Amino acid sequence: MIRKFILPPASIVCLFALLASGCLHAQAAAHSTMPRIEKRDGRYALIVDGAPYLMLGAQINNSSAWPAMLPQVWPAIADLHANTVEMPIYWEQFEPTQGHFDDSVLLTLLEQARQHKVHLVLLWFGTWKNGSPHYTPSWIKLDDARYPLMIGSDGRTVDSLSPLFPATLDADRTAFAAFMGDLKAADPQHTAIMVQVENESGTWGCVRDFSPTAQKLFDGPVPADLIAGLHKQPGTWQQVFADQADVAFHAWNVARFVGQVAAAGKAVYALPMYANAALAPLDNPKPGTYESGGPTHNVLDIWKIAAPAVDILAPDIYTPAYRAYIRYLDLYGRPDNPMFVPETGNQPPYARYFFAALGHGAIGFSPFGMDFTRYRNDPVGAPALDKDALAPFALNYQIAGPMDRELAQLSFEGKLKAVSESPTDHRQTLDFDAWQAVVSYGMPQFGSGREPAGNVLPDGGALIAELAPNEFLVAAIHARVDFTPQQTGKQRQFVRVEQGFYHNGIWHFERIWNGDQTDYGLNFTSAPQVLRVTLATY
Ligand code: DGJ
Repeated sequence: MIRKFILPPASIVCLFALLASGCLHAQAAAHSTMPRIEKRDGRYALIVDGAPYLMLGAQINNSSAWPAMLPQVWPAIADLHANTVEMPIYWEQFEPTQGHFDDSVLLTLLEQARQHKVHLVLLWFGTWKNGSPHYTPSWIKLDDARYPLMIGSDGRTVDSLSPLFPATLDADRTAFAAFMGDLKAADPQHTAIMVQVENESGTWGCVRDFSPTAQKLFDGPVPADLIAGLHKQPGTWQQVFADQADVAFHAWNVARFVGQVAAAGKAVYALPMYANAALAPLDNPKPGTYESGGPTHNVLDIWKIAAPAVDILAPDIYTPAYRAYIRYLDLYGRPDNPMFVPETGNQPPYARYFFAALGHGAIGFSPFGMDFTRYRNDPVGAPALDKDALAPFALNYQIAGPMDRELAQLSFEGKLKAVSESPTDHRQTLDFDAWQAVVSYGMPQFGSGREPAGNVLPDGGALIAELAPNEFLVAAIHARVDFTPQQTGKQRQFVRVEQGFYHNGIWHFERIWNGDQTDYGLNFTSAPQVLRVTLATY
C-alpha cells in the first residue's frame, strides 16, 4: 500500500479517542508492554512483554528482506532455533518518491514473523549502509547538490553522504519517523522489539568531510556540550583532539546526525534503538585505516554525548581470534552501554562466542547472513549455508531457547556467568560465593588426572548460573564443568545432578546423572543438555 504520510494512523485514532477520553488508559497499557531497556544495579535487560528477554538472533543477508526471498529465510531461522530475526528496511523501497511511503514490505515482514513465532529487529538502511548511501532512494542519489557527498582531503568526491547538510538529515529523519509511525500502527503486539538506526554509519577511505562547509566547522571551536561532557579545555578540534581531531570531528557529526534520526523516530514510537559499528583495530587505530565516524571503540564517549537517543552502541564482530573478540566485548560492555552483538561471523569458530557474550551480560547475539539464499559473505569462499553449517549456532539456541527468559532474568540479577573456549587457556574459572566453577576443554570424556588439552577446534563454551546457595544451572558444549569449594580444606560432593529442561518457566526432570556421568566432572558433548546441580562439601 502506498500512501502519503501526514500523521501516523495511530495518532489520528488516539486524537479522536482522546476526545472520548479512553486513549490515556490505552496508552498507559501500551507503555507497560513496550519493549524497553532497563538498568538495575549496573546491569541491563531488554524487557519484552514485561520481562527480561534474551535475543537468540539471526541477521539475514542484505538483500533477503524482500517478500520473494522470505521462503529461503524461514527454513534457516527454524533450523537455527532463533527467537529473533534482524531484517533490513530499505529506504529506497520505503520512500521511492519523496513523501510517498510504502509500508507493504514492512507489513509482510511483520505478518510472516508472527506466523513463524519470532520477534523482529528492524534495521534502518538509510543515509549510511556500510558507510555508503546505496540504500537511499534515487531522488537522493541523483541530487548531489541538495544531498552532498563528502569531499576527501584530495578534493575527490567520496561515496558517503556528508553528515553536515540539513536537507539530508531532514530527509532521513522524516522517512525514519514515517517508518516508525507505520510500525507503531501495524504492530500493537510488539513483534518488532528494537530498531537499528542506519547500518555501520560513517565513512570508509576518508576520515572526515573536507568540503568548505566542513572545513569551516573543523577550524572552529569544539561544541561546548562535547567539551563539557569530555571534561576538556575549550579549543579548536585540532587543539582539543590533536592527532585524533579528524576522527573526533567526523564521529561527533555522524553521531549527532544518527542521534537526531533516532530521536525523531522515538518521538513517534519509542522502541529501543541502537547503532552498530564496523570495528576499528584494537591498538592505536590509525585514522583513515578503518571506517571513520561510526561508534568505534575509540569514540564511544563522543557518541554517548552526541546521540543520547541511541540506547546501545553495538559491535559487529568479524574477528574470530579469541583475545580480540573478548577485548571488543570488554570495550563495548561498559557501565553506560548495554552489551549486544548485532552481527558476528557465521563460520564455526564464531558460534562459541555466544557464551562469552552471555558472560558479558549480553541482551542478544546474532550471527550474520543466516538464510538459505546461498550468498555467503566469506572472503575464502565457504560453501553456501545449509543446515549442517548452521549446526554449531543452532546448538547454542537449542540449549538456551527453552530457558531464554530464565537466562535473561538470571543475567539481569547478576547470577549468570559464561565463557568461551580460548585456544591457549584450556581451563577457565568462574567465581561464585561459596564455589568456584572450573570449565576445562578437550578433556577425555572418561577419567581424570590429565591436563586438559583443548578441543581440536576451540569450539567449547559453558554457562553457569547460581539458582540458590549450593544450587546451579549448568549447560555447556564440548566442555567439562566441575566445582571447587571456596573454603579451603573442603571437597566437592554432587548431592544431585538432574538433567532436564525448562518449559514455560517450569523445570521438567528427565534423569539423574551419576556414575561415569559425574565421577570425573560434568562432561558436555554436542548434545543439548541442561543440568540442575546441587552441591555439598565433605
Ligand atoms: C557488516 C554489515 O553491517 C552487513 O550489512 C554486511 O554488509 C556485512 N558487514 C558483510 O556481509
